[in-house]
Amino acid sequence: MSQSSLPELRAFLSGRVPDGLAAILGAFAEASAGLRDALATAPLSDLLGATGDTNVQDEPTAKLDAYANETFHRALRLPGVTRLISEEDEAPVELGGGPYTCCFDPLDGSSNIGVAAVGSVIGVYTGMAAAPSAAAPTLGRQMEAAAFVVYGLPTMMVLATGGQVDAFTFDPTDRTWRLTSPAVRAQPAKYASINWMYRDRWSPAVARAVDNASDGLRGRYSGSMVEDVLRVLLSGGVFLYPEDSASPAGKLRMLYEICPIGLIMEWAGGAAIDGARSVLDVPVTAPHQRGPLVAGAAEAVERYRVAYTAPD
Ligand code: AHG
Ligand code: MN
Ligand code: MN
Repeated sequence: MSQSSLPELRAFLSGRVPDGLAAILGAFAEASAGLRDALATAPLSDLLGATGDTNVQDEPTAKLDAYANETFHRALRLPGVTRLISEEDEAPVELGGGPYTCCFDPLDGSSNIGVAAVGSVIGVYTGMAAAPSAAAPTLGRQMEAAAFVVYGLPTMMVLATGGQVDAFTFDPTDRTWRLTSPAVRAQPAKYASINWMYRDRWSPAVARAVDNASDGLRGRYSGSMVEDVLRVLLSGGVFLYPEDSASPAGKLRMLYEICPIGLIMEWAGGAAIDGARSVLDVPVTAPHQRGPLVAGAAEAVERYRVAYTAPD
């Protein structure tokens, strides 16, 4: 049954953020709703499986990665947008429009396509005169808004605007996004979310910090960052993807994975660090730059930082 008395996303955004930003976030939400439909029936269509190509990061591209990328490209070519940076594109796409650079992960958790929840992530940056490079670094703090969607039941969008975090639920009966959790606050840590199978790849500092941060918590890990971060945010906990010997710089990407989650966590009263400092203060000098991420309840993140930065 439709809960049509709950505030709808576009009405929520109107007057709260500049029109150009509202258009971007509305378009992201609408494109996500379309993607949700495609995901819901993927096994019935020819959308499952791999394209046979690899992306710029040498990862095999699923058909749905490519489909999702096209979906967001179409949606985000807006007058306020100067540049699009996608996980699935080798180079930034310059549009030459307004003040906003949209950085997105069209489909997060690709290994779960067809079997478990996946999602989409966006960070909307300003003040990026050029695509990130050594000469023109970008900081996560330049984001004006960030959001991620989890295509589960329910399909939810967590949105950070104006220093606040709100969660919306997609209502398929009238195809609206309705505000179901206003002013989300990070909860005390209950769950630790990390790929424990990588313990042999961790440095002594990482192993020590993971143990310190997760002490007393219960484990949950899905392999979809968005799903794990949603649990951490709404139920309380800490999500960790530290650097390891297979991914010495970390696996997740700064612009469209780490920083959007960082903004959401900080604005919800939690924290997100690379081990030592806020991920929002790490200079980003390349579009697909990677980094470590420890995000969630401020107290658990602090336990990681203290152990990580302690002398060996
Ligand atoms: P993507 O599907 O966009 O490439 O991202 C996958 C990421 C993230 O969603 C998840 O937390 C992590 O990769 C899982 O990696 P491991 O399989 O190494 O744990
Ligand atoms: Mn991802
Ligand atoms: Mn992806």
